This record gives sequence, C-alpha cells and structure tokens, in this order.
Amino acid sequence: MAVERAQTGIPGLDELIQGGIPRGASVVVAGGTGTGKSIMAMEFIYNGALQFNEPGVFVTIETNKQNLLWDMENFNWDLKKMQDNSMLKIERLKFMPGADMEQQVLEQLKIIAKLVKSINAKRLVIDSTTALGIWISDKGVLRNTLFRFLNALKEIGCTTILTAETKGHFNEFSSFGVEEFVADAVIALYLVPPNRSIFVRKMRGTKHSKRIHPLDIDTNGLTIKPKDEILWQSLR
Ligand SMILES: Nc1ncnc2c1ncn2[C@@H]1O[C@H](COP(=O)(O)OP(=O)(O)OP(=O)(O)O)[C@@H](O)[C@H]1O
Ligand SMILES: [Mg+2]
Repeated sequence: MAVERAQTGIPGLDELIQGGIPRGASVVVAGGTGTGKSIMAMEFIYNGALQFNEPGVFVTIETNKQNLLWDMENFNWDLKKMQDNSMLKIERLKFMPGADMEQQVLEQLKIIAKLVKSINAKRLVIDSTTALGIWISDKGVLRNTLFRFLNALKEIGCTTILTAETKGHFNEFSSFGVEEFVADAVIALYLVPPNRSIFVRKMRGTKHSKRIHPLDIDTNGLTIKPKDEILWQSLR
C-alpha cells in the first residue's frame, strides 16, 4: 500500500520527497542559526491549515508568542485569523530553571497532547528541541530525557516537525546527537554565503532526492529549486 503523505505545500519541497512527508512521521529540520528552520516549520503548519484543511499546533520554546508573531508578520500569512478560526494554536512552553528539568520536559508532553486534541490538530511543530535541552547539564540525562520526549511525541500521532540548531556544519543533523536517530526524517538547511540550500538526509519509506538544492526566502516563505543542485564541496 502506498504511504499516505502530508503535503508541505512549500514550493519545490514535495517533489523532492515523493509528494510529501509520510503521515504521522517526525521530521527533524536541522541547521545553523538563521537558516530558515522556524520559517519552514511555520509554513508547514500554515499551508496545512490553509490548503489542506489540517489544523496545526506550533509549540515555541525559545521566543515568546509575541515575538514569534512579530517575526512572522514579515510574511504574507494571516496567522491571527487562523488562530481565531481554531486552525492554529501557538503555545509557548515555559520552564522553571533549577527545578527537576527532566520531569518538567516530560510533563510538557501532556500539555502538547491536550493542545493537539483541542483543535484536532494533524500537524505539530516543536521549535526548538535545542531549547528543550539547554537547561539539562548532564549529557546522559539530557539524551535520555530527549529520547523519551521525542518517542512519546510520536504517540500523539501528528505529522511533526522538530527544529534543531546546529553549528551549521555539513554533516551535523541535531543539537544533541539524539534527535536524528529518533526521528523518521532529517532535513538539513544551510546558509553558506551567498547561498541558502536544503538537503534531505533521510526520510523513512521515501525515495527522496539525494542532492542539495538551492533555497530562497522571501515574503511568501521558502522556495526550493528541485531541478537545480548545489555541490556539497561548496558547503564544507
Ligand atoms: N521577509 C523575508 N525575506 C527574506 N528573508 C527573510 C525574510 N524574513 C526572514 N528572512 C531570513 O530568514 C532568517 C530567519 O529565519 P528563521 O527564523 O527561520 O531561522 P532559524 O533557522 O529558525 O534561526 P534560529 O536558529 O535563530 O532560530 C533571517 O535571518 C533572514 O535571513
Ligand atoms: Mg528559529
């Protein structure tokens, strides 16, 4: 049976991945700062609601809600209306530094599951997993907590994008070395002046492009050129 897919609606992306992300899969979108991770994640949610009638939940951990909306005000996206129509929920997760962080991280799962249920969301974003781990200093505990968090997140059943900040190296696909193994898919974004690009590193059940493709950002969001290629040597 063919894999059911959630179209991203991001111009050029779906044709790199056989039409979309396998429904229910979790995708790590990894990249250095400013490579377009948050924009891509929001566009995935926005298109889902607007074009495919799939409500979405956007969980932000690093910026506050107001900032995120302000960031996204740049774009031709009416997020306010979408929220009013219960097609979109934006939630900022808060942590109390010092308290039992593992416990706090795992407790957020309940909040996320509740949010998803409240609007019957089909798409979910966690932006970013890097921010989740930042308060846990012990590496072993951090990896274990993140592993449990990401696995439990899968049970929620949404098609999910998790962003992860890297130092921007070509062969780096997560912040803590856990995320890419738990996830079903990994997409890397790069910015090596003056070029932005995108690379699908893995996507289970999908015959995806193995090339690096040019990427642009403008007020409509991302545009990928699926027929053009950037040589990996230029990313080193
Ligand atoms: N309207 C726009 N037109 C063109 N480029 C834009 C526009 N708005 C933002 N950008 C580009 O997108 C970048 C921000 O993208 P985004 O916030 O998605 O990055 P990120 O990978 O999430 O970064 P971080 O790791 O800091 O969270 C900006 O630095 C800028 O280069
Ligand atoms: Mg971001």
